[in-house]
Amino acid sequence: MEIVLAVLKKLNLVPVPLLDGQMQVVKARALMEANRAGVFHAIGDGPEGLTASELASKLEFSEEGMEILLKALVSINYLKVKNGRYTNGRWVKHWILDPKHSLHHMLILQMYTYKRLEGLGDNLRSGRPEMDFHQVDVANPTAAAALQGTYTYGMREAARLIIPDLLKRVDVPAGATRMLDIGGAHGEYCRQFMRKFPGLKATVLDLAGPVATAQKIMDREGNADGLELRVGNCLQDDLGTGWDVILLSNMVHLFDPAQNLGLFQRCKAALKPGGTLLCVDQFVGISGQRDRIFAVVSLNFFNVGGKSYEATQMRQLLSEAGFARVDVKPLGLRTPASLIQAYA
Ligand SMILES: C[S@@+](CC[C@H](N)C(=O)[O-])C[C@H]1O[C@@H](n2cnc3c(N)ncnc32)[C@H](O)[C@@H]1O
Repeated sequence: MEIVLAVLKKLNLVPVPLLDGQMQVVKARALMEANRAGVFHAIGDGPEGLTASELASKLEFSEEGMEILLKALVSINYLKVKNGRYTNGRWVKHWILDPKHSLHHMLILQMYTYKRLEGLGDNLRSGRPEMDFHQVDVANPTAAAALQGTYTYGMREAARLIIPDLLKRVDVPAGATRMLDIGGAHGEYCRQFMRKFPGLKATVLDLAGPVATAQKIMDREGNADGLELRVGNCLQDDLGTGWDVILLSNMVHLFDPAQNLGLFQRCKAALKPGGTLLCVDQFVGISGQRDRIFAVVSLNFFNVGGKSYEATQMRQLLSEAGFARVDVKPLGLRTPASLIQAYA
């Protein structure tokens, strides 16, 4: 089906703008609504499945509404149906149900993204985001806390896609003992680095909301690795000194070039001689396939005040900030992210 459609699109025989402008939107909504409502978890892992009527009464949907949603999910290959009983497909079992790979919170986060992007037109015209995404909405603190928690849990899920490849490619100085993860939120990078490099102790520096979520994660899961949490604004607060490793993961796309240069200079000053700065992000100019993805994703970043930057521009800013050597290393296939490693 997908291959036939790809060929028809290539031959320009199907109304591609309608497929992209309507089908994709409804498809995305169906997936997000099913995830939010708990359809996939209610169906579970087993082979027996549930009927539309059973799911409707379990999740308090109208029967007609549930049936129409389930048929859509079968059509886009997330569910299977046999004799009126719905079971989860491979993508759901691996990417939503399996706690090691689950993108459940990331999908909830996309519901906020979807709403936020309603302001994209104004944002593109003015050249500025409509709101400061990282500023807490004081008028509605409960909603702000819910968004914040979803953001941090969602980023943790995305981090799990990146970390295994990052750990293979990263060059950590021998005998490194101190790591600072700026904007490290959930703390997953720190935990995995500490496990891979014994002797390394890591600190997350983030805004108050993500640090509170990270604390909740530690209260629930324990803190056997000894992760330290600090509240601070990396653009203005003291970063400390004597770090062997500083990580900026998915940070530079949030800031403008002047802010990034300032941040790199502050990182350089905070690192030990021989220390290293790791920038993990969706950099442009590394491969054609990645660039096609970023050309679209960059609109999302621009909507919160940043964009996907050219790897060459980052290299230049890092040299300007005083880093003597800068290496660019693409990560694996599961993530479009790359590592730019700078040596102090
Ligand atoms: C896109 S998330 C990346 C989270 C994590 N580094 C990762 O890759 O999974 C950006 C993080 O930067 C934090 N952040 C944004 N502006 C910040 C600032 N000025 N100072 C410190 N942290 C900031 C946000 O709170 C959020 O946790």
